Amino acid sequence: MSRIAYVNGRYVPHSQATVHVEDRGLQFADGVYEVVALWRGLPVDLGPHLDRLETGLAYLRIPMPMSRRALALVLRETVRRNGIRTGIVYLQINRGVAPRLHTWGDDLSPSVIVTARRMASLARPTIEEGVKVISVPDIRWKRRDIKTVGLLANVLAKQQAHEAGCPEVYQVDDDGMVTEAGSSNAWMVDADGRLITRPLGHEILPGITRQRLIVLARAAGMEVVERPFSLDEAKRARESFFSSTTNFVMPVVQVDDAVIGNGRPGSVSGALRALYMDYLKDLPADAWTAAT
Ligand code: PDD
Repeated sequence: MSRIAYVNGRYVPHSQATVHVEDRGLQFADGVYEVVALWRGLPVDLGPHLDRLETGLAYLRIPMPMSRRALALVLRETVRRNGIRTGIVYLQINRGVAPRLHTWGDDLSPSVIVTARRMASLARPTIEEGVKVISVPDIRWKRRDIKTVGLLANVLAKQQAHEAGCPEVYQVDDDGMVTEAGSSNAWMVDADGRLITRPLGHEILPGITRQRLIVLARAAGMEVVERPFSLDEAKRARESFFSSTTNFVMPVVQVDDAVIGNGRPGSVSGALRALYMDYLKDLPADAWTAAT
């Protein structure tokens, strides 16, 4: 099946899906995005993703281009036209098209781009090996809670990790504390088996997976503490892992040169991943519409 994208009101073949050279998303990274996981054809936590999108748009002072309901319909239709059941749907909203000038006028129509793709790796029930991460200084701006398409610092960090044979980084602030990973939230498990993750604030993205995991863990009687932790503490942790839409829970078995625990994915991360996989099995059948 050939891929179909939605661009500004039209469903077009992927090869013809283009934006204008003066789209402000291209010129200034003046836009926000969301990545929503698809599980057996249903979106995972679409409501919270749309909430975060609206918060980001409001901060950037970009109007919602259409209602939540209409946006959900476009996402659903893009998924349907691509025949995807397990994968992701990507949404990007930019301020619009205008001659290049940093300031903007009030006559712009936001650009809306939606793509969807299969991702078989989502379906892995357990993670046997775990992954290594490297630490990098967090050189990003001070509003990391806004999911803007301005991802250059993340891109450079993740490329550095990739060249070191790692899929992720832990970003570290000036005080030696871990902020988050390159495109996921960072976690550790302390000596008492408590789950530790940095509290929300301007320093990290409020991950939808992070939030869901907190709810699931607490409901299962696991203790979650939202507090900052240092890189040093992460290296001495019993377990570590990162969470995101595309990784769910991914165990980390090495941070820089430090082996975590016994070098194998830990039982707490495994239990949390199992809770998340169970949660996916029971997604509501009306997940596309309930969110709007
Ligand atoms: N990344 N932190 C950053 C910097 C991210 O880019 C992401 C998501 C997360 C996790 O958020 P969520 O649980 O809502 O996916 C945390 C997406 C998947 C991406 O850019 O591809």
